[in-house]
Amino acid sequence: MPSASATLAPVVSAAIEEAFGPEHRDADPVLRPSQFADLQSNAALALAKGLGMPPREVAQRIVEAPSVRALAGDVCESIEISGPGFINLTLGGSWLGSAAEALAADARTGVPRESPERVVIDYSAPNVAKEMHVGHLRTTVVGDALARVLEHLGHTVVRQNHIGDWGTPFGMLIEHLLDVGEGSAEALLVETDPNTFYQAARRNFDDEPGFAVRARARVVALQGGDPDTLRLWGELVDLSKHYFNAIYSRLGVSLTDADLAGESTYNADLPRVCDELVEAGIATVSDGALCVFLDGFTGREGKPLPLIIRKSDGGYGYGTTDLATVRRRVRDLEADRMLYVIGAPQALHLQMVWATARRAGWLPEDVRPVHVRIGNVLDPDRKILKTRSGAPLRLMALLDEAVATARGALDEDRPGLCEDERATLAPQVGIGAVKYADLSVAHDSGYVFDLDRMVALHGNTSRYLQYAVARTRSVLRKAGAAPAEGPVVVTEPEERALVLSLLDFGDVVGEVGRELEPHRLCTYLFELAQTFSVFYEQCPILVAEPPARASRLVLTRLTGDVLARGLHLLGIETPETM
Ligand code: ARG
Repeated sequence: MPSASATLAPVVSAAIEEAFGPEHRDADPVLRPSQFADLQSNAALALAKGLGMPPREVAQRIVEAPSVRALAGDVCESIEISGPGFINLTLGGSWLGSAAEALAADARTGVPRESPERVVIDYSAPNVAKEMHVGHLRTTVVGDALARVLEHLGHTVVRQNHIGDWGTPFGMLIEHLLDVGEGSAEALLVETDPNTFYQAARRNFDDEPGFAVRARARVVALQGGDPDTLRLWGELVDLSKHYFNAIYSRLGVSLTDADLAGESTYNADLPRVCDELVEAGIATVSDGALCVFLDGFTGREGKPLPLIIRKSDGGYGYGTTDLATVRRRVRDLEADRMLYVIGAPQALHLQMVWATARRAGWLPEDVRPVHVRIGNVLDPDRKILKTRSGAPLRLMALLDEAVATARGALDEDRPGLCEDERATLAPQVGIGAVKYADLSVAHDSGYVFDLDRMVALHGNTSRYLQYAVARTRSVLRKAGAAPAEGPVVVTEPEERALVLSLLDFGDVVGEVGRELEPHRLCTYLFELAQTFSVFYEQCPILVAEPPARASRLVLTRLTGDVLARGLHLLGIETPETM
C-alpha cells in the first residue's frame, strides 16, 4: 500500500513519455499536495517551455495519455486541469478504503524493507571522567533514532561509541585518583558527578607544580604501557562506563558496553596509519610534525592547512585516531555507509580525514561517509547551554528537572489522574520531551532549551503525540471487545485526509533513512496527530452506524499504531493512558 504520491508519480511520468516521446522517460511528475485535490502535478508548467507549447495544452495531452486515462474510475474519482495548467488528481473513496485496509493488515504499516546495507553509526562519544554535555546528549538522541530507523528499514547497524578514553588528561586524572584513593567517595564521583572530579584534578595540575610533574610522568607511563598505570586508567574508564550507562538507561537509549569503541581502541593502529601515509608519499614532515597537505584545504591568507598526524613530540592527534576509525570501519566492520553523528564545527576535521583516507586507498569510492552535523542546544540568551541556575550543568540533574517539570505539568493539566499514574507518566513525558526537542528541529540547527515549552500539551511536542496515541487507545478500549477490523469506507473529507496521511508513513520513514533527518518523522507524526484530532472531532466513532463505526475504529487503531511506531523509532515511549 504505497502512498498516494508513490502510486500516482510513476503513472504521470509514464503519461508524459506517452504524450511526448521516449526522450521524456523518467520526467519528474512534480507532484505536491494541493488545496483543491489530493495531489497536484505541475509537470505541464515545467515542460511547456522546452516543448514550445502552452502549458494548458501540455496538461491536456498528459491527461489524455493512456496511463492517466486508466486511472479514471478505479483509482481517481476526478482528474482536472486548472489554472495555467495544473493537473488536479483526486483519489477515489474505494481506492482509499482498500489502501487503508491493506495498511491495517500490514505488520510493517507500510514501512518498506530496503535492500540491506551495513551502516556504521558513530554517536554519543562522551569523554571519560568528564560530564556529558548537551551536545553529547543531542548526538546520543539523534544517533539512536537513526540507528532505530535504519534497523527498522532492514539495514544492519553497527553502533560505535567513540568515547574519549585516551590522551594527556589521563596523567592528571590518574594522579588525582591516587591522591583521593581508589574506592574513596571522591573517586566515586566519576560515576555520578564527573565534573567535580575533573575540576579537582585540573586545579591540582594548575596550582601544584609537584602534581603537574607527576601527571606528566604518568602520561609517559600510560603511553609506555606500564601495567599499574593501565590498571588505574581502566578503573577510571569503568567508573565512567557506569556513569554513561546510567544516563543511557535514563534516556532509554540502545547503546551498551558492546558498542564501546573508544579512542584507545585505535592505539595500536596509529603507528601504521602514519607509516602507510609516509610510504605512500602522502604525509610529509613540516616543522617537526608529520602532516598531510591536501588540495583545496587552506587556512588564513590561503596558507595550506595541514592535517597533523604526529606532533613533533611524537604524540598522535585526534585526526590520526579518526583516520584509524575509517580504516577499521571499512575493513573490519565492512561499512557501506558510515555516519559520524558529531558536532557541526567538526565538519572541516572530517573532510580532511576522509580526503586523506581516500588518497591512501582506505576509503573506497562505494563507501559513503556522512557527517550528521549536530547543532547547538542554547540557553535563553542563545549561548551554548552550560549552566543551570548558576551551577555548571549536570546532565543527570537536567534530566531530573525535565521529569519534575513534566510532573508539574501533569499535576496541573491532569488532576483527574491518580497519583500513581502521574508518577509513571512523568518520566515518559519528561524524557520524551527532551528527546523530541533534540529530534524535531533540523539536527544541524540550534534551538533554545525551554522545558516548559517542551512538556506543553499543545504545539509540536512529544506530549501532544503521546496524548494522541493514548486517545486512540482509549477509544478502542471504550469500543469493547469488537475487533477494529472490517471494510474501510471513506466518505467524509476528514476520513480522506486521515487515510492519505496514514499512507505516507512508509515513505517518510524511508526518507529519514536516506536523508538522515529525524525531524521529518517528527513533522509527519505531528501532522498526522493533528489530522486525527480533526477527524476525531468531526466524525463520531463510537456512536456511528455499524459500517462507519467499524471503519472508523480501524482508522483509529491504525493511527495509534503508526504514531506509536513512529515514536518508538524516535526512541520515545507511548503510555496507554494519559
Ligand atoms: N569525544 C569527542 C567530543 O567529546 C567526540 C568524538 C566524536 N567522534 C569521532 N569519531 N571523532 O568532542
